Amino acid sequence: MDFKIGFIGFGTVGQGLTEILLEKKDMLAKKFDFHYSVVAISDIMKGSVYDENGLDMRKILELVKNGKKLDEYPSGVKGMDALETIKNTNADTIVEVTFTNVKTGEPALTHIKTALQCGKHVVSTNKGPVVKQAIDLIKLARENNVYYGFEGVVLAGTPAINLFEYCLAGNHISGFKGILNGTTNYILTMMEEGMSYDEALKKAQELGYAEADPTGDVEGLDALGKVVILTNVVLGKNITWEDVERKGITDITEEDIEEAKKEKKRWKLIGSSEIQKDGSVKARVWPEKLQLNDPLAGVMGATNALTYYTDELGPVTVIGPGAGRRETGFALLIDLLNINRELKN
Ligand code: HSE
Repeated sequence: MDFKIGFIGFGTVGQGLTEILLEKKDMLAKKFDFHYSVVAISDIMKGSVYDENGLDMRKILELVKNGKKLDEYPSGVKGMDALETIKNTNADTIVEVTFTNVKTGEPALTHIKTALQCGKHVVSTNKGPVVKQAIDLIKLARENNVYYGFEGVVLAGTPAINLFEYCLAGNHISGFKGILNGTTNYILTMMEEGMSYDEALKKAQELGYAEADPTGDVEGLDALGKVVILTNVVLGKNITWEDVERKGITDITEEDIEEAKKEKKRWKLIGSSEIQKDGSVKARVWPEKLQLNDPLAGVMGATNALTYYTDELGPVTVIGPGAGRRETGFALLIDLLNINRELKN
């Protein structure tokens, strides 16, 4: 397949994917018969550029890394906004990586819906639309005969959605439990090493793990969004924001951490969901004091982990990055390669 890619948003994740695509171009072509050109980019801060014959992405990366606008690219059509780029370019695949709003899902939700309705594939790491309307968007993609990939919304490029959809297919999954937010796990780890809460949060922001507004991380809202996504997509339920019990880590003091250490335990912010006997689900995000021999207790720093409870294999756990430029960019490549595979069949 020869993808014609249009980026909506071109921040760190979009740039991360671009670096991977540039570096692995030959390998992807040889190994997977995967070919691509990027024809359009529209970013609310950086401007936009469109060339139906493809953009020189090395030049584009150089521009944005030097803080320049896309309008300074030497050729192509400038000034198209996100929706014009989706509707009026020859891009057949939209990479939606604009900022996340988990409360309304917008403007990403409109971008994704418009692209699917125009018969374009969408790959996206944007959590908002999946929290709000996962089931509807998957249906909309099917109706329009295109694909909507969102591997990166949970655990970045560490397989969570694909693990469920492909590798664990045929299992009944009755619940899951995980460390779904890197910022809070990093803060708890650093506090155990003697850093203060404020210092640890500042460091997590510097390292790029935290959301633009880190309240979403420390109050458990980011993890809550992921619990909603996994409950609806993996457990097949239809819960919303309000159905999840939530408590963040802001009340955990340095004394609490010390006390847990003495008890040979460790605080973790756990996101979980479990199907009940009556078919309902109990979903929550809550700080838990785990025994040190619990597999999730050993997951340190910004690393994430997710255990699925399956009928054939029992608990299956993946541990890996849940944030980061290339780590999240890679999630988009997983989705693009899936589309490539599907279209070849
Ligand atoms: N702020 C999130 C985290 C980024 O810390 O895990 C990935 O969703």
